[in-house]
Amino acid sequence: MARHLTTTADLTDDEIEAIFDEANGYLEGQTNQKLRGRLVINIFFENSTRTRSSFEVASRRLGAEVVSLDVATSSESKGETIHDTAANLDAMGASAIVVRHKNAGAPKVLSKYVKASVINGGDGAHAHPTQALLDLFTLRQALGEVKGKKILIVGDIKNSRVANSNIKLLARFGMEVVLVAPPHFLPKRSGVKSAWNIREVIDGASAIMSLRTQTERHEQPIYASLSDYAANFKIAKEALGDRDIFIMHPGPVHRNIDLDDGALSDPRSLVLRQVHNGVAVRMAILSKFVLEY
Ligand code: NCD
Repeated sequence: MARHLTTTADLTDDEIEAIFDEANGYLEGQTNQKLRGRLVINIFFENSTRTRSSFEVASRRLGAEVVSLDVATSSESKGETIHDTAANLDAMGASAIVVRHKNAGAPKVLSKYVKASVINGGDGAHAHPTQALLDLFTLRQALGEVKGKKILIVGDIKNSRVANSNIKLLARFGMEVVLVAPPHFLPKRSGVKSAWNIREVIDGASAIMSLRTQTERHEQPIYASLSDYAANFKIAKEALGDRDIFIMHPGPVHRNIDLDDGALSDPRSLVLRQVHNGVAVRMAILSKFVLEY
């Protein structure tokens, strides 16, 4: 029976440690043939730049064949259900299917119709487990021990699958997570400390994770313009001063809305390191899910 990665709760702490150990061996762009002869299918019903290409590179570096389905020309637009599409891909002999979908829960549903391991590449505002794993990996690389360290997650938290997955995973590994957002961007019951003003909580923080405003998930425009939002929530280099604080963002960055030019290019910015590490972490995830089950 294949095992699936729909949320980070599908992995034990020991399994996450093993994934990170393996990922550490891939940081210099190493390749191998562990998945030679295997097929990985990326099926993305929502746009993606980083995640899709990261899974493609990761699959190739493990020697797998990889096919990325162009959803604009796929069968969903012809009325086929997503599980029928997936069952057809499965019949081609896929070992892993990486799926992104606008509906929360879509990867879970799909996993019931296929023999391959389903890996969630982001479902609605629900979860993005591989992003949270690469974020935790990056934080450990930068900070050493993460336990007891404070991270601020800033922006459209309620609509962000990245925030959702990170709140759970980072807290599980002992981080103090503080959410910073205007009230309508805060989830109703997260059980996590929150603030409306970053200045109230920045002292003692080791990292800030900034998020993109998910305008495509808002039923009606919340801000008249993104620059209204930026006036209060943009992370500016100047406001960071000489603090010992790392800056993260899952991308795509709204430049000068989420982060200003200075913060993005500051040596404390981990934004491109996250992308770099993402390939290594996804290699370890793919090899685990394809080879062990
Ligand atoms: C995010 C996503 O699509 O969930 N990006 C990513 O995967 N790195 C965040 C976003 O869209 O803002």
